[in-house]
Amino acid sequence: MSSEVTREAILDALKDVQDPEVQRSIVEMDMVKSIEIKGSVAHVEVLLTIHGCPLRSVIEDQVRDALLRVEGISDAHVVIGTMSDEERQRFAAKLKGPGASAQQTPDLLKPDTLTEFVAIASGKGGVGKSTVTANLAVALGRLGYRVGVIDADIYGFSLPNLFGVADVKPAVVENVVMPVQVKGIKLISMQFFVPDNRPIIWRGPMLGKMLRNFFQEVHWGALDVVLLDLPPGTGDMALDVHGMFPRSKELIVTTPQQTAADVAIRAGLMALHTKHEVLGVIENMAFYQCKGCGERAYLFGQGGGAQVADGLQTSVLAQIPMGEPMPGTQGIFARDSLQGQAFDLLAQQLATELRLEALAAARD
Ligand SMILES: Nc1ncnc2c1ncn2[C@@H]1O[C@H](COP(=O)(O)OP(=O)(O)OP(=O)(O)O)[C@@H](O)[C@H]1O
Ligand SMILES: [Mg+2]
Repeated sequence: MSSEVTREAILDALKDVQDPEVQRSIVEMDMVKSIEIKGSVAHVEVLLTIHGCPLRSVIEDQVRDALLRVEGISDAHVVIGTMSDEERQRFAAKLKGPGASAQQTPDLLKPDTLTEFVAIASGKGGVGKSTVTANLAVALGRLGYRVGVIDADIYGFSLPNLFGVADVKPAVVENVVMPVQVKGIKLISMQFFVPDNRPIIWRGPMLGKMLRNFFQEVHWGALDVVLLDLPPGTGDMALDVHGMFPRSKELIVTTPQQTAADVAIRAGLMALHTKHEVLGVIENMAFYQCKGCGERAYLFGQGGGAQVADGLQTSVLAQIPMGEPMPGTQGIFARDSLQGQAFDLLAQQLATELRLEALAAARD
């Protein structure tokens, strides 16, 4: 009977509707401003953080669908409003969680966090760290894991370009930054915060501060794994980033050339020296495979990956062939390409090695 539809039944149905930006229930986040039930018709007002939110129609549709699924409701009127300043402040406080303050260690950096950290390092620049980070992240996302990607190359950021989202600005609600969601992963990079490619001239302490901000000010939500794209080399910068993430494990990227392999070993030794476990070696640009005949051309020689793995007493986890990225991106390979398949295999291997499934289950 229509008259029996209660406010509780409506709220219960709306619990499943998430704000796509913060990925929390609109009920939990107090975004449902009013509910009125007239016979079998529900009138609901939902408040969004900013006027003209691009996701407005997504939420509107989801709210309407949820209402129409309630037994006894035959029609739904949904009004989307905008939060007042005060409501937005309450919303932001809720996002940050109780008692959050600038001095507190962010959840992701606490020693008992169930999120795995994997840093992608190399000796030489330009061997494909960022490409590997981005594609491995997407592949882990395809396996259903919640993946955060941090462009820890504060000065030489490149991940937004690689993903094709260089022009996107992250949503900010009262100083809480939402990571940019792209291809099933969440991304944060310095590039989102520098106007028009202006060079960044901060030194030492600023680097640490910036990276810390990537945790303190960013609402990541629950994550199973965080990939860190490190700056190249074995210099101070890479060392600082190592120091900042004592828990992170490392993947070493190299190309098949001897010169790249030599420096990659040094990068790996630095990781080991700073007590970071090396998970294995990725040999990137390993070969070019002719699409028609399937023949492989080893443009950069052979053996670099195996040599690095030997030097570090670990194994080559993947050999990524050369290839063209998908349109609209500068470095993401299609799932069904040779590269995409190699990354899928790598993601499966890593998920097993890091026991991601068990960790995710323990968290939820
Ligand atoms: N498997 C691949 N096939 C084809 N091109 C690739 C491949 N991997 C990387 N590249 C290209 O090589 C260049 C360097 O790659 P990338 O930026 O990922 O390296 P990097 O190690 O992160 O560099 P940096 O040290 O500057 O941060 C880019 O232009 C990238 O598109
Ligand atoms: Mg890079």
